[in-house]
Amino acid sequence: MGVYDLFGVDVRQTGYLFTLLIASVLFLIGLRGLSRAETSRRGLSLAGLAMLLAVVGTLLNKRIVTYEWIVGGLVVGTVIGVPMGRWIPMTKMPERIALSHAFGGLAVALVGVAEYFNHGLELSAFDLGAVGFEVLLGTITFTGSLMAFGKLMGILPGRPQTFPGQNALNLAVLAIALCLLAMLVARPDQRVLFNTLVALGLLLGVLMVVRIGGADMPVVICLLNSYAGLAAAATGFAVNVPVLIVCGALDGGSGFILALHMSKAMNRSFRNVIFGAFGARTHLKQAEKHAGVVREGTPEDAAELLKLANSVIVVPGYGMAVAQAQHAVRDLAELLEKTGAAVRYAIHPVAGRMPGHMNVLLAEANVPYDQLYELDLINDDFPRTDVSIVVGANDVVNPAARDTPGSPIYGMPILNVDQSKAVIVLKRSMNPGFAGVENGLFVKPNTMMVFGDAKKTLAQISAAVKQER
Ligand code: TAP
Repeated sequence: MGVYDLFGVDVRQTGYLFTLLIASVLFLIGLRGLSRAETSRRGLSLAGLAMLLAVVGTLLNKRIVTYEWIVGGLVVGTVIGVPMGRWIPMTKMPERIALSHAFGGLAVALVGVAEYFNHGLELSAFDLGAVGFEVLLGTITFTGSLMAFGKLMGILPGRPQTFPGQNALNLAVLAIALCLLAMLVARPDQRVLFNTLVALGLLLGVLMVVRIGGADMPVVICLLNSYAGLAAAATGFAVNVPVLIVCGALDGGSGFILALHMSKAMNRSFRNVIFGAFGARTHLKQAEKHAGVVREGTPEDAAELLKLANSVIVVPGYGMAVAQAQHAVRDLAELLEKTGAAVRYAIHPVAGRMPGHMNVLLAEANVPYDQLYELDLINDDFPRTDVSIVVGANDVVNPAARDTPGSPIYGMPILNVDQSKAVIVLKRSMNPGFAGVENGLFVKPNTMMVFGDAKKTLAQISAAVKQER
């Protein structure tokens, strides 16, 4: 009887399979919970529990012969991960996510490399194909995510870097890599095929992201997320760990769906997303400066306007995250509700710097979920709205995206705040937003600019509303 046998049952192996089954089911339930704001906290907790079970279950795998390296990895990962989680601000989340994807891609690729060099000749054609696929996707994710990180951090130029025949080159490299993968399955002993596959994967990641401008990064990050998931699923097949297949498929599928949503929100065609062909933007001129008079107001002027409003829509953007103004927004909204105004929040899918950025911040400030409206659900209501308050948003309310063909952001769906009866814009200056495009909203006759840090300005407006009540 083995060390782990109990009445003829291998406790360790049974525990391993059972734990992974529970983890897989919890992942599914958790992901389902994430689809609605009201259930997202519980969904996240369940997914966290699932991940814990997956790790514990995997540690029971009888293929593990020593735990020393695993414990070492755990310590190093914790030492790096905890400070990253604690100290990286919300505003730097896309950079952190890009870096996490890079490490995830690298880890997956290294597992594949180890699997090939240790067991390559014993693997079945299917398993070898899975290893090759895993290494290809892992290396693409690694360098692609590092490029995205560099661009978001400003270490690399944010502008798209393009050259003639770029798409053809990308497709040719991909086609060669897939041919090499097929040849490797036929001739597993040819290490040169494997090594070239690794090199081409690394190259493809760079080629794919180099041509993408900073403003298109959300789509790319979602797509890289999807690649990382698919690579993990391939790893699951290669090393025969079912929970990796389930998790990877969920990650790959959800990342892909998110990429589709993001591309729709940014008016990018799906073909462009797949091939990373965001070149069209590069040939466009800088948007022209808008002629018009800027109407600057004080917080007291804004309060005066708000006091008369029956309907108010708050439009948060990246500046709300920078200013950490979500609590101040909620305080003002509650005051206005007390004066009888109906207050709602309009959430643009790419407002801020990561998917769901505004939802997370407003949830943190306990803004009721039922006051948050997605673009499609609220856009027609702006003409009937007395005052829209734009809190540190810029690109997502820029009418050039709707009205100015040739503008770099033309075609991106926007929140039609300019159609409100009055607009109050809270920002620090006339500087453009992420896309670097001038915003005609700021010189419209119905717009009042209140300059300053959004949190301070909101507090001053609230104080003035209180006084004037
Ligand atoms: P942006 O267009 O980036 O504009 C943010 C504005 O906030 C800036 O114009 C800035 O103006 C203002 N601001 C900054 N700090 C502030 C503060 N302390 N107080 C008040 N205002 C402040 O933001 P948006 O409208 O949310 O659009 C998001 C953009 O980011 C889109 O172009 C989107 O494509 C891109 N993007 C989105 C994501 C995702 S997934 N959400 C990821 C990467 C990129 P001042 O400097 O004058 O204050």
